[in-house]
Amino acid sequence: MSTAGALLYLLLVGLLVAGMLSIVFHTLRTGISPMPTSAKVRRQLLTLLPPELEGTLLELGSGWGTLAFALADHCPRARVVAFELSPLPLAFSRLRQRLAPRPNLQLVREDFFRASFSGASAVVCYLFPGAMLRLAPKLSEELAPGTRILSHTFALRGWKPLRTLVVDDLYRTPIYLYEVPPRHESTGPADKEPGR
Ligand SMILES: C[S@@+](CC[C@H](N)C(=O)[O-])C[C@H]1O[C@@H](n2cnc3c(N)ncnc32)[C@H](O)[C@@H]1O
Repeated sequence: MSTAGALLYLLLVGLLVAGMLSIVFHTLRTGISPMPTSAKVRRQLLTLLPPELEGTLLELGSGWGTLAFALADHCPRARVVAFELSPLPLAFSRLRQRLAPRPNLQLVREDFFRASFSGASAVVCYLFPGAMLRLAPKLSEELAPGTRILSHTFALRGWKPLRTLVVDDLYRTPIYLYEVPPRHESTGPADKEPGR
């Protein structure tokens, strides 16, 4: 092998190792790897979203973009905002967006826990139990009552799903459809116990 060939080889191996380390680092940071949604789950999940959906659809943790692109195609009238923190999967999605642009898809490098969900018309996620626990109060506080939430695999503890689909795959993957419940009527200052 020539010197140039050897250098190119080393460069490629270096990039591969750096990419893998970056994925491991961000998996530890966020608590979940960028595992993509399978085609079977994706097809079933999309049946729970009306294609005529408008407004802003949030995808929490878009990984390699597998679901984000499918959501943008399925709901052409909605603006899909896909959050991802892991740079390599995000770069892959951005490359895909460059090669085959979806005008209604926005890929953002941001921690979705720091973003505002207010005004969203639907939320889709494939996360892990700890994130669902942390997400639950944010969803109920920031989303309007009746907003659809779709969760692949992990339930929102204490919430009653409107529907649960079980995908006919190896894991019998559940997909939960929730609607943000109506807010509890504020009891207001007059209803508070005196002296409090
Ligand atoms: C299991 S993957 C799902 C990927 C994609 N949604 C799909 O279904 O194909 C979860 C992704 O969420 C990302 N993630 C986890 N917590 C996040 C956070 N707080 N902000 C942004 N992305 C996050 C992870 O980096 C990971 O890529």
